[in-house]
Amino acid sequence: MFELCASILAADFANLERDMRAANAAGVDAFHIDVMDGHFVPAISFGTGMVRTMERLTTKPLDVHLMVEKPLDFLPELEKLGVKRVSVHYEIPGGPEAALRAICAAGMQAGLVLNPETPVESALPYLAQISQLLLMTVHPGRGGQVYLPGSNEKIAAAKSLLQGQGSNTVIQVDGGITPGTLPGAYAAGARSIVAGSAVFYGNIYQNVCALRSEKAKP
Ligand code: DX5
Ligand code: ZN
Repeated sequence: MFELCASILAADFANLERDMRAANAAGVDAFHIDVMDGHFVPAISFGTGMVRTMERLTTKPLDVHLMVEKPLDFLPELEKLGVKRVSVHYEIPGGPEAALRAICAAGMQAGLVLNPETPVESALPYLAQISQLLLMTVHPGRGGQVYLPGSNEKIAAAKSLLQGQGSNTVIQVDGGITPGTLPGAYAAGARSIVAGSAVFYGNIYQNVCALRSEKAKP
């Protein structure tokens, strides 16, 4: 399994339709949507109103990354919009348990996100609920950052943890993915790759081809 998710945060919002259609045509597998509330992370990106607009611009699955303190408030609207997958942070106040349960109950796929400093073992109590473990490979909150050193080792540790538990949860990585960093992440065990700047800055078609061809190399 391999999927490339285009992170819309890096799109040109003045030309959102153009950029999403271009990424769609270039063959991305899904769109990754970063919702930020200004509390869990300092920045505010957009809310469910914008997700509604994005949903109209593609037929590809939507992969929503909630960088918010109160994910439960967002779920009913995301469910209505037919969102495929919603990921919530381990680090939120009160922990992710209630949100993960609500995501599953709504028939969406649940993902658990770990910040760079959160150990992979933190995911253990939630493995039965999650279809995706999202490892942040930058500090959450903004695009265009550099892939953190040690990320590949963390991906490998997550992979062996999952294998040891007999779990088929997919490892997703988010942040600093380029044609240069993707092969290491893939080799370490990441199978869902989020890329923002590396998709939307410059020629979107060529960018998507470059990312895909890096994955294809032995
Ligand atoms: C960061 C976001 C990422 C971001 C990635 O908090 O979760 O999805 O858009 O951007 P790039 O690929 O530019 O590092
Ligand atoms: Zn993200």
